[in-house]
Amino acid sequence: MKKWRFDFRIWHWIHAAVVLGLLGTVFLRKTFLSWKTNSELLSSKLTEMDISITSQQAKVLATSIRSPMWEWHILLGYALAVLLLWRITLFFTKSGSANYKNFKAKTLHKKLVTLGYIGIYGTLFIMALSGLSLTFHESLALGKELTHTIKEVHEWLFNLVLLFVVLHVTGVVIAETRDEAGIISSMIHGKNIA
Ligand code: HEM
Ligand code: HEM
Repeated sequence: MKKWRFDFRIWHWIHAAVVLGLLGTVFLRKTFLSWKTNSELLSSKLTEMDISITSQQAKVLATSIRSPMWEWHILLGYALAVLLLWRITLFFTKSGSANYKNFKAKTLHKKLVTLGYIGIYGTLFIMALSGLSLTFHESLALGKELTHTIKEVHEWLFNLVLLFVVLHVTGVVIAETRDEAGIISSMIHGKNIA
């Protein structure tokens, strides 16, 4: 039997929205607001208007178009850091520790699900630490090479976050329609499911 406390449910849904928002900003940065695509587009349209600009100037224009959107990545990033601290405090509640009890008695599938949760929490902690280090790399006096390595780690871990979200959402929808009817709604209304 599982019963999700009100604060845990609120935490889960805000956290889900923030992570989806972060993934959304990455999607926009890599597609519609990609500086490479847009700088080429700007250059070619300006050429049609008999205005010529250098590729460097086109890059400045394209990144400044992207910049207000990317500010959301940083704002949502701060929110994620706060949510992870909140999650630590929730571990001391019944709801916050429910999935991590009686590990040995679980089926192999449930063991993997639990390990997946531990994995995503670890990944998100590193994402928050690396993201904050990138944001404050100047104040923290991080060298160019270290900043570059941190960015590579941050970018690579993005793949794990994406993988978790796809597997998690697919997984709970399948569970809901097969043998765990009510699993999703119980994360909404909080009542017990068998
Ligand atoms: C939007 C669709 C989503 C639905 C319907 C959904 C539903 C659920 C449900 C039903 C559970 C409980 C499952 C169980 O007890 O094993 C759960 C847990 C969890 N969800 Fe989601 N979720 C969604 C999105 C997300 C997203 C985007 C994240 C971001 C990483 C996320 C992170 C988690 C985590 C970490 C847990 C484990 C909570 C714990 O520590 O016990 N969920 N979700
Ligand atoms: C779910 C969590 C997160 C995901 C999936 C994610 C994903 C990414 C990705 C893929 C990039 C590389 C973008 C590119 O160069 O094409 C990036 C860059 C960055 N992220 Fe995150 N991020 C997350 C959390 C955070 C957090 C918590 C912060 C801190 C506030 C943050 C701050 C940054 C910064 C400063 C950059 C470098 C941007 C630049 O070089 O212009 N991120 N992120």
